[in-house]
Amino acid sequence: MVYEATTSAPVNIACIKYWGKRDTKLILPTNSSLSVTLDQDHLRSTTTSRADPSFEAGDKLWLNGKEDVIKEGGRLWVCIKEMRAWRKELEEKDSTGPPLSSWPLRIASYNNFPTAAGLASSASGLACLVASLSKLYALPQTPSQLSLIARQGSGSACRSLFGGFVAWREGSDPSGIDSLAEEVAPRDHWPEMHALICVVSDAKKGTSSTSGMQRTVETSSLLKNRLEVVPGRMGAISKAIQEKDFESFARITMIDSNSFHAVCLDTSPPIFYLNDVSRAIIALVEELNRASGKVIAAYTFDAGPNAVIYALEENMPVIIGAVNRFFPTNEEFEDPFKTQTKDLPEGF
Ligand code: PMV
Repeated sequence: MVYEATTSAPVNIACIKYWGKRDTKLILPTNSSLSVTLDQDHLRSTTTSRADPSFEAGDKLWLNGKEDVIKEGGRLWVCIKEMRAWRKELEEKDSTGPPLSSWPLRIASYNNFPTAAGLASSASGLACLVASLSKLYALPQTPSQLSLIARQGSGSACRSLFGGFVAWREGSDPSGIDSLAEEVAPRDHWPEMHALICVVSDAKKGTSSTSGMQRTVETSSLLKNRLEVVPGRMGAISKAIQEKDFESFARITMIDSNSFHAVCLDTSPPIFYLNDVSRAIIALVEELNRASGKVIAAYTFDAGPNAVIYALEENMPVIIGAVNRFFPTNEEFEDPFKTQTKDLPEGF
């Protein structure tokens, strides 16, 4: 008897960045953050989960067709354990369904974009794992409640359980119960808002977000200033989203990206996520805004050199034209968004 569920979850790109943990085990952040969930097909994780009493004991997981270790006490393990506990609670209340919580799991996850290259693959991946187990286990929990578990897999993953504009509230309870994601506005509130992904490099990033954040919290004095200014930015960008005020949205997004990378530079040893091409993209967007006499584009960079440019749909042709003109695609460039095979791995 096999029970199976497949779900898909998109990437989210933060406008107000999460950078720093106040509790590394529960993944409680030092500041709230806010992101836009990208809704096209290009940047997604797809996860299939199966439970079967005849599987050999122990859970197994494949990432992009390659088996990954589920380390006891590790993040994946914690997410699976918490989801199972919710299923067990359900079974204890109503024992008429199959005892899925006691059956081994097989989980296969695919990203249709480069993994760990600053394109938030951990966000969509962990959100998708939680969503797929929630479906498999027929859990009644809301997306905000599920975000409490996804957060423990990868902080930014908690925001990928919602579409549209999403806030991750830092919360204050030491248990983490109020450190969850919630919708600021649904996608259809501002459909004119578009995102252009500029893949500068699809190589794996040099400093993982986990070790980078820890180093920043331990060594950066600039982080203290960031923690003072971010609450104001959260309020201001939420207002800009509600009022569909692109200029304010864009200014705050760019300031916060720069402030995040400044904090990385202020870390000891320093962390460099941006490269010369990233900086040239910043210069191009600043110049486009200056030449337009108003802000038409906003860049933002996560823990890697790739740029995301937010703009209203009507301005995208000009922006794409400028990007293509100044950054012509290398002939040897292999399209990183070509869809990878989704055949389930052998042994699944
Ligand atoms: O969730 P993590 O550990 O991958 O950290 C993500 C950090 C940033 O992408 C740089 C910022 C963010 O809020 O997504």
